[in-house]
Amino acid sequence: GWLRYAPLSSSHVKGHVGNIPSTIAVLGSTKGGPLDTAVSEIRKGIHGIFGRTVKIASKKNACHASNTIIIGTVEAFEAACSDFPSGNQLKEDGFWLSTSHNSVKILGQNERGALYGAFEYLSMLGQANFSNVAYATNPSAPIRWANQWDNLNASGTHGSIERGYGGSSIFFDGVGHIKDDLSRVPLYGRLLASVRINGIVISNVNADATLLNKDNLEGLSEIADLFRPWGVRVGISLNFASPQLLGDLDTFDPLDESVVTWWTDKTDEIYSQIPDFVGYLVKANSEGQPGPITYNRTLADGANLFAKAVEPHGGIVMFRAFVYDKLDWNDWHADRANAAVEFFGDLDGEFDDNVVVQIKYGPIDFQVREPASPLFANLRKTSMAIELQITQEYLGQQCHLVYLPPLWRTIFDFDMRVDGKESKAQDIITGNVFNRTLGGYAGVVNVGTNQTWLGSHLSLSNLYAFGRLAWNPAEDSVSILEDWTRLTFGLDDGVLETITSMSMASWPAYENYSGNLGIQTLTDILYTHYGPNPASQDNNGWGQWTRANGQSIGMDRTVSNGTGNAGQYPNEVAAAYELPETTPDNLMLWFHHVPYTFKLHSGKTVIQSFYDAHHKGAETVQDFQFAWAALKGKVDKERFEHELYRLRYQAGHSIVWRDAINEFYRNLSGIPDEAGRVRHH
Ligand code: GCU
Repeated sequence: GWLRYAPLSSSHVKGHVGNIPSTIAVLGSTKGGPLDTAVSEIRKGIHGIFGRTVKIASKKNACHASNTIIIGTVEAFEAACSDFPSGNQLKEDGFWLSTSHNSVKILGQNERGALYGAFEYLSMLGQANFSNVAYATNPSAPIRWANQWDNLNASGTHGSIERGYGGSSIFFDGVGHIKDDLSRVPLYGRLLASVRINGIVISNVNADATLLNKDNLEGLSEIADLFRPWGVRVGISLNFASPQLLGDLDTFDPLDESVVTWWTDKTDEIYSQIPDFVGYLVKANSEGQPGPITYNRTLADGANLFAKAVEPHGGIVMFRAFVYDKLDWNDWHADRANAAVEFFGDLDGEFDDNVVVQIKYGPIDFQVREPASPLFANLRKTSMAIELQITQEYLGQQCHLVYLPPLWRTIFDFDMRVDGKESKAQDIITGNVFNRTLGGYAGVVNVGTNQTWLGSHLSLSNLYAFGRLAWNPAEDSVSILEDWTRLTFGLDDGVLETITSMSMASWPAYENYSGNLGIQTLTDILYTHYGPNPASQDNNGWGQWTRANGQSIGMDRTVSNGTGNAGQYPNEVAAAYELPETTPDNLMLWFHHVPYTFKLHSGKTVIQSFYDAHHKGAETVQDFQFAWAALKGKVDKERFEHELYRLRYQAGHSIVWRDAINEFYRNLSGIPDEAGRVRHH
């Protein structure tokens, strides 16, 4: 990944090596905790980058030693050295970093913060950034978690990681147990810690109750031990019906006393082995999963059952808003995009304080473009987290280069206009708009045993960026990418320029050749979620509809004539989405059902915009393979060839996409391409 600590060239380090401290003084470490990790990471990093050995200074000299990196918690610094007024600026997990000449201070609000500061310092050094800095930095929100959709039992329909494209699970052996060989777990912890991810849910949301059996809980505790030095706390997904599936109860009714006792006991058992267990993730009453509605109880009753069990231990319940029922395609007013607000809107205020509702960024399902989920604007008394996907389920499954932060930015930056005031989605997630103290980010990562973690070297920029954005959602997509590229591939300007321009062009290109104008990713939605299959969207109960016929296309989500979804947004936004005149082209077919000949703001018709966009998208990615090929000799052979193969594949597959989509709509609409490129069958 990006933690290579590759040696810098002499031209980059000239005049600076002498200023790299040769000792490190450690204040306040717990044995085997994140601060110890920070110290060994710094020693390893400086050795890798400069070939220098950093010695541990004696405690006695710690405060006044020169040529030293002082690292510790603010509290320990104040106890051993002096007051540190800047420490007041720190929130949980925050840190202070100052580098001036050869004296460096890394002080965390807690040990985890000190570890984050160490990684930040090493990131500077790895990029040959020797400037003097002095600043405090804090996370935008306390919840910055990875989610893994790993199955205990690999005989599931999608292999051992649901929607995972980087090999099999690093946690589970595929036949219902935790692996004997957990050697990749600390390596994953290291990656996560370096981008300030502080929690991980290791099991699939479509959860297997047997994770809660005695053997597996022992294994879980080993996993937690391996993540702990990295400041990453472990949690699991729950199967709501566990008391019946695993226990011997004949009910899983959340209000039944025996069920409450069952969960309380199970939770206590977990905490007795893993005192810092972070909590549960729950997918209930969705896509065949059991839940409280089975017993006519509310989703809040379901969430609070677990919240009460973990509360005495300081745990959190992430309750997913991805709840919907299959729908009747023949009903013009039916809309899966309405489901979250319909299920959760009335429950605002009903959730316990340690429940966080985890909301996918858009109202449907990780599509190439969606408006922000209206639920973000509908819960004022409930803590919320945004769910993003790093694994590229609908977005090319790591066989296509798609750098995701520009997509995520469209959500973070979207102003929901709650009560007619500025209320960007990013400020709702952080808790700032509605004054919530909990909140944050969950990223579905799905790394596996593949050496590249995700299946492709370049796709790792998305994991790196997820962490950076969870710390600060206002960060710029390009500067994140540049840091990642320098750390991953070195400081060559040509490499930096090529990877940056390819990556930044990649999501717009993918949108263009898969599904533009807000029609969604026109992929096969029934099984693989991969490759073009526009016909699969309609005529089924899944609700990812395009409603395409011979004359017109798009979901009518207006209040006046459609599903009413536009009306779930606050007034100003609702009014804008209600009318095609005020709906942006890139969401036109998300909100409106219009003729293929409808004129967009761009001046083009819908159908011509399909044809042109699909050609443009495919054309853009044709260049990637050549741009990459020009880096021969600047990137090591193994990574060079791995990516070249993928980018060539993407070039070919984008043409498959282009022609499949264009010819499908050419046939359906009967309208030729003005430029004469699209065949008619
Ligand atoms: C998608 C995905 C499923 C997953 C579901 C979820 O529909 O295809 O595999 O279980 O999202 O997020 O729960």
